[in-house]
Amino acid sequence: MNIDICFTPNDFDDTKYSKYSAVVIDVLRATTSIATACANGCKELIPVRTVAEANKLKANNPDILLAGEREGLLIPGFNLGNSPFEYTREQVASKTVVMTTTNGTLALTKASAAQKVYAMAFVNAAAITSALQQNQDDVVIVCAGSEGRFSLEDTLCAGLLAERFSKTAKLSDTALAAQAMYRDFSAELLPRVAESSHASYLRSIGFEQDVMLCLQQDTLSVIPVFENGTITAWH
Ligand code: MLT
Repeated sequence: MNIDICFTPNDFDDTKYSKYSAVVIDVLRATTSIATACANGCKELIPVRTVAEANKLKANNPDILLAGEREGLLIPGFNLGNSPFEYTREQVASKTVVMTTTNGTLALTKASAAQKVYAMAFVNAAAITSALQQNQDDVVIVCAGSEGRFSLEDTLCAGLLAERFSKTAKLSDTALAAQAMYRDFSAELLPRVAESSHASYLRSIGFEQDVMLCLQQDTLSVIPVFENGTITAWH
C-alpha cells in the first residue's frame, strides 16, 4: 500500500490516481459537516461546485435541501449553511442534501476520478482508517486547502492518517512531511490549529464553537463514500 498526499486539489492528477482510493479532507468545515450529516441519517449528499448548479437541482426536485457557504456564511435562499451544528437528525434524516462550498466540494468533485472516494475529517478518522485497512488500495489524500493554498488543519489531519499507516504503508515525501508535522503538533493540536488562518477567520465571523467541534477526534463512526455523484454513509 502506498500513501500520497495532495496539499491542494490542484495537485490531483486524474490519470496518476485513477486506480487509487482518494480520501478528501476539509476539516473546517465541509467534510466535518458531511460526516455529521451522514451520522444523522442523511439519505445522500450531492456535492456541486457552483450555486447555479445547486439551484438547478432544486428547481428539478423541490424536496431537496440546499446547503453550503460562501465566505463561511449562509448562501441566500439556501436551507443550511456549513456549520456541522446545523446537520441535525431533525434537519437531514432521510433527506437529499445538495452542497456547495468554497473548497470542500471542489476537492470532492476533482477527486472523483479516483477508483473510490472517502470524505474524512478528524471526527471520523478512526472509521476511515479501518475502511482503508480493509481494502488495502493505494491511497491519495486530497487536502481541500484554502482557495488553492496550503491549509494547516487539512495537512495535519492527513498527517494523522499517514502516522496511522506509517508501519504498514510506503509514505511519499508529502506524506512523510505531513506525518512529521502531525507528530510535532499532536501534543497540543487544538490550541495550535485554532491559530490557523481559516480557524481565525471562522472565529472572527462567530463560529468559535465550530472550530472546537471540528478538531474533536473520532467522535463519529461513519464512512462517507462518494460515488456516482452522491455521498452516502457506510457504517
Ligand atoms: C470550504 O469548503 O471552503 C469550507 O468548508 C468553508 C467553510 O465552511 O468555512
